[in-house]
Amino acid sequence: MAEGVGFEPTRTGVSRPNGFQDRLFRPLRQPSGAHDIMPATVARVVVVHAVTVPQPGGPDALVLSEVPDPVPAPGQVLVDVAAAGVNRADLLQREGHYPSPPGAPPWPGLEVSGTVAAVGDGAGRWAVGDAVCALLAGGGYAERVVVDAGHVLPVPDGVDLVDAAGLPEAVCTAWSNLVDVGRLRAGETVLIHGGSGGVGSIAIQLAAARGARVLTTAGGPERAARCRDLGADVAIDHRADDVVAAVRTATDGRGVDVVLDVLGAGALAANLESLATGGRLVVIGMQRGRRAELDLGVLLAKRATVVGTTLRSRPTAEKSALVAAVREHVWPLVAGGDVRPVVHARIPLAEAPRAHTELDGGDVFGKLLLVP
Ligand SMILES: NC(=O)c1ccc[n+]([C@@H]2O[C@H](COP(=O)([O-])OP(=O)(O)OC[C@H]3O[C@@H](n4cnc5c(N)ncnc54)[C@H](OP(=O)(O)O)[C@@H]3O)[C@@H](O)[C@H]2O)c1
Repeated sequence: MAEGVGFEPTRTGVSRPNGFQDRLFRPLRQPSGAHDIMPATVARVVVVHAVTVPQPGGPDALVLSEVPDPVPAPGQVLVDVAAAGVNRADLLQREGHYPSPPGAPPWPGLEVSGTVAAVGDGAGRWAVGDAVCALLAGGGYAERVVVDAGHVLPVPDGVDLVDAAGLPEAVCTAWSNLVDVGRLRAGETVLIHGGSGGVGSIAIQLAAARGARVLTTAGGPERAARCRDLGADVAIDHRADDVVAAVRTATDGRGVDVVLDVLGAGALAANLESLATGGRLVVIGMQRGRRAELDLGVLLAKRATVVGTTLRSRPTAEKSALVAAVREHVWPLVAGGDVRPVVHARIPLAEAPRAHTELDGGDVFGKLLLVP
């Protein structure tokens, strides 16, 4: 982020993607005659860069651009970004399939860490200089972002400011779907698909810390071994092994109480087979497709539940309640070392295309972070 003194010249180079929310940002031009009322020496200009998507496409569709300096509205805080987490949903957004909801900046970024730079009216629980991380509906791929005060968390004790960017989206997703939706209790068994992923690597630790027995899937023996290091009791190499048979063996034929599924259609039948009587299948991703046939006979016989959720589009108040629950129940586990961010690599913000290429490549374990 570049800082200067005096009024900013007209930014003819700034492109405004469709859906850009003007009201979130400081006007690009000062009113005429402004020099008369505000001397040039007092106005501090901050040039903010963000990775935008002028035209949807492959990784090269991500373009480092100058964007207006955001100003916090009432109830919001402004965060100087230390790092932004890269999520699989960002790849879909880049391709034009998963736009930011209304009110959020149109560029990607569902989570950041950083330092509070300004506080809007009514957001006084935060102060300038606080080290924080936050859940966003979009816009995190930037040097600065505004966020609802209720979606902000303190950086947990013992966690590096940059690494904290890898927590909000994964922890909120894991808590919401394992505990709220999946009703996972201590002593129960859970199958977590994609244990090597951003969500999965946190979900393994969270479920284990809450006393569940954890089965997980990962691609290849090394990735499976790393899942065991995170606390998985059983890690199934889905490239080499039959997942349903492995679940049956690991549970003495009973099945699991909860499946946290990132695969969707292609795994629906196997997931249903893997459930114990009264089991809950929670679908949060569709990496193996969106349409599948559901055998209702199996569902009824097992008295099972199939449920799907998304986090991004939930109402603000619902997200605030979730963030509060995470702060109360998960942050002590993070501060105590039971749940840690799993960071694969830090990549400069300007190299966002490389980050997307790497995530798509399938070798990432945990999270990639973009660092301005
Ligand atoms: N609904 C929500 O609220 C919500 C919130 C966050 C994320 N999500 C979704 O959840 C999914 C996971 O997110 P993430 O951030 O953890 O992504 P990620 O970091 O890319 O991890 C996904 C993991 O899934 C595994 N995988 C990929 N394709 C697979 C396949 N065909 N069969 C078996 N395993 C496969 C990969 O591990 P291996 O190669 O080791 O198998 C990968 O590590 C994404 O689809 C994302 O959009 C949903």
